[in-house]
Amino acid sequence: MTGPHVLAVANQKGGVAKTTTVASLGAALAENGQRVLLVDLDPQACLTFSLGIDPEDVEVSLHHVLTKGLPPAEAIIETEDAVDLLPATIELARAEADLLTRTGREYVIRTAVEDLARPEEPGDEASRGAGYDWVLLDCPPSLGVLTVAALTAATGVLIPLQCETLSHRGVGQLLDTVHDVKRFTNRDLEVWGVLPTLYDGRTNHARTVLETISDTYGLEVIEPPIPKSIRFAEAPAAGRSILRTSRTNKGAQAYRDVATTLLKRG
Ligand SMILES: Nc1ncnc2c1ncn2[C@@H]1O[C@H](COP(=O)(O)OP(=O)(O)OP(=O)(O)O)[C@@H](O)[C@H]1O
Ligand SMILES: [Mg+2]
Repeated sequence: MTGPHVLAVANQKGGVAKTTTVASLGAALAENGQRVLLVDLDPQACLTFSLGIDPEDVEVSLHHVLTKGLPPAEAIIETEDAVDLLPATIELARAEADLLTRTGREYVIRTAVEDLARPEEPGDEASRGAGYDWVLLDCPPSLGVLTVAALTAATGVLIPLQCETLSHRGVGQLLDTVHDVKRFTNRDLEVWGVLPTLYDGRTNHARTVLETISDTYGLEVIEPPIPKSIRFAEAPAAGRSILRTSRTNKGAQAYRDVATTLLKRG
């Protein structure tokens, strides 16, 4: 049996639409009949919140899985967007500190994903947690322990990027980290490419920045770019992704098209 596609959505720059991409792509993959698990790796718990779950009401979360040995299936919540969620709470900040001194910290997420792929009872493939097609990892805006652990668990990494003048400055650093991860903890990691987000195609500027980045770093640009839309700001408050709150929005459609691209690739 082959495992799920595990896609880390990472960029240490803040506010580039990592969380929005995880929520929207997850919903788009689910629309295609895929079984999807989203993992909130950010102690700010924005993904958890934006899927309609108040982190304050969550009793067991990723933090218990990573540092207390809780089986991941016991922390997973079903959401109204037809995706499952491994939620975060602010306690994850402490988990990150605890992990710093632990042996095998790079492997904590990988191990959790492998535990999920294993049926709870022998022969019971349908048991809760088994059989995800996609696991999307929403990385925090840093290159710390949790991001490295996510890259170690991933088969691919997707880099959301806002196409503005200084947006390339962090990309080299992120790729250095990816290089180290490939060398030391996850030989099979592949960079799937850059996803242009908050894209304003009316400006030449955005296109120039994108060309520069793909030339400089030899990165594939995932199509189509995600246009800027005010509707994205409304979705998290409704606790649903934009695919549900604004079905026909161009941004929602762009994420559906990106999901199709990923399905072909996967
Ligand atoms: N295509 C878009 N058009 C307009 N606004 C967007 C778009 N995508 C995301 N946003 C908004 O931009 C803000 C940042 O998005 P998001 O939280 O997904 O970024 P992030 O990279 O996860 O941030 P952080 O680094 O803090 O985790 C949010 O308010 C979100 O609603
Ligand atoms: Mg985020």
